[in-house]
Amino acid sequence: MKFFLLLSAIGFCWAQYAPNTKPGKTSIVHLFEWRWADIALECERYLGPKGFGGVQISPPNENVVINNPSRPWWERYQPISYKLCTRSGNEDEFKDMVTRCNNAGVHIYVDAVINHVCGHGVAAGTGSTCGSYFNPGNRDFPAIPFSAWDFNDGKCRTGSGDIENYNDPYQVRDCRLSGLLDLALEKDYVRSKIAEYLNHLIDLGVAGFRIDASKHMWPGDMKAILDKLHNLNTTWFPEGSKPFIYQEVIDLGGEPIKSSDYFENGRVTEFKYGAKLGTVLRKWHGEKMAYLKSWGEGWGFMPSDRALVFVDNHDNQRGHGAGGASILTFWDPRLYKMGVGFMLAHPYGFTRVMSSFRWPRYFQNGKDINDWVGPPNNNGVIKEVTINEDTTCGNDWVCEHRWRQIRNMVMFRNVVDGQPFTNWWDNGSNQVAFGRGNKGFIVFNNDDWPLSLTLQTGLPAGTYCDVISGDKIGDNCTGIKIYVSGDGKAHFSVSNSAEDPFIAIHAESKLYNLN
Ligand SMILES: *[C@@H]1O[C@H](CO)[C@@H](O)[C@H](O)[C@H]1NC(C)=O
Ligand SMILES: *[C@@H]1O[C@H](CO)[C@@H](O)[C@H](O)[C@H]1NC(C)=O
Ligand SMILES: *[C@@H]1O[C@H](CO)[C@@H](O)[C@H](O)[C@H]1NC(C)=O
Repeated sequence: MKFFLLLSAIGFCWAQYAPNTKPGKTSIVHLFEWRWADIALECERYLGPKGFGGVQISPPNENVVINNPSRPWWERYQPISYKLCTRSGNEDEFKDMVTRCNNAGVHIYVDAVINHVCGHGVAAGTGSTCGSYFNPGNRDFPAIPFSAWDFNDGKCRTGSGDIENYNDPYQVRDCRLSGLLDLALEKDYVRSKIAEYLNHLIDLGVAGFRIDASKHMWPGDMKAILDKLHNLNTTWFPEGSKPFIYQEVIDLGGEPIKSSDYFENGRVTEFKYGAKLGTVLRKWHGEKMAYLKSWGEGWGFMPSDRALVFVDNHDNQRGHGAGGASILTFWDPRLYKMGVGFMLAHPYGFTRVMSSFRWPRYFQNGKDINDWVGPPNNNGVIKEVTINEDTTCGNDWVCEHRWRQIRNMVMFRNVVDGQPFTNWWDNGSNQVAFGRGNKGFIVFNNDDWPLSLTLQTGLPAGTYCDVISGDKIGDNCTGIKIYVSGDGKAHFSVSNSAEDPFIAIHAESKLYNLN
């Protein structure tokens, strides 16, 4: 009996909900549209040393080449085979990336597009990233192979063949999402071909999957595929480790399909998180930071141990997907840094940081008409991520994950891992503070007047570097210093006009050799 209990406890820890990051590493970053060669370098030179646990990569399998418009980012969501061959790199480069990142203690999470293949209207031919032939018109994808038998055409009951009504779960699962050919996932053959693809990635050393468009698949069909997956490669992961699964389900409430329908398969993306946090920091609809005291399940979010959270993602940062105009992005850097800082300090959910490319945003009638623009490129070839002398990125790569405030809050989250949410304070408005046990403390001023007062931090006495205004270098601070007295109290001044109106201190930003 005891033996059985022990085994089931271990089984739970190693299940699909565990992110498979190295112990003490608590966040991943989405390096959207990066080349595998640049990701390998970034793991070694930056992500490993700075405490990032992993990277979500763009879909690695062969996709349609779209020329009208010219090479949009979304062409990667139109696969035509499971060959590892895209604008980000080929299979050798993929393998090199996984090996080098794993060896740097940074794991790879693949964006898995398994609900569908390309759009039904794409021309037949070899216009794909690896030159494989495909014919959407007669449902022929010989490089997999899939044929007419393997699609849901017969099952969908709408006139157009596309999803027309999100209140009908049958349409949402059995019809085409924006014209994308919908795979018949109840067929064991189709399940096996997808599992073969995912198992190839697992064997090469990936740690898990973001499952794209999960809402458009029946949870039971997904489970049948997931049940076929191998355990992770024991070169880098403990024996018996299962791939981390997080499912893209957009559930803002008000539809019959719920995030909770998918909990059995793994974690789920909590889209309410970024939508609500943006509303609070923008102070829309009477929202204020004081209300964040009950942030998490108290706001109607899913259970923390099922949630994958983010301030913005590659869809909603450009008005696709969910959340609308409240979503904070690098285009609003001051509020964005506060939002990401809040997310990384707060214990709710497993956190993903976004890392974007800049595009020529251009609004017409409230819509960004350049929302399709693909990554920085030369005649279609993705540009290298160059690193400037000040450690920022060049070539229009935004690299939010390298912004000091964000990079240091990733470390904050690692330092406070497992500590309770404590010492909440607010002024009834937009000045708030909270601690994480005796390991970290953070103060925000999103009001239009200064904050200056003494707060209980819960931290041991000492001098701490604020990791927002600067870094701890050697045994000194390049930014603000905070003095915590023997009773755990410290005085904070945060000007409402500060470049970054928040302060964060933690156990590893403490100075030790003061004379
Ligand atoms: C695990 O990765 C190692 C190193 O790349 C490789 O040699 C081995 O074949 C992989 N294991 C499996 C089961 O594929
Ligand atoms: C908090 O905001 C209120 C007004 O909402 C203000 O009266 C009070 O002085 C503020 N508190 C602090 C500590 O700034
Ligand atoms: C620490 O840095 C401050 C300014 O950032 C400087 O004035 C001071 O001399 C430094 N102290 C030591 C011990 O290096």
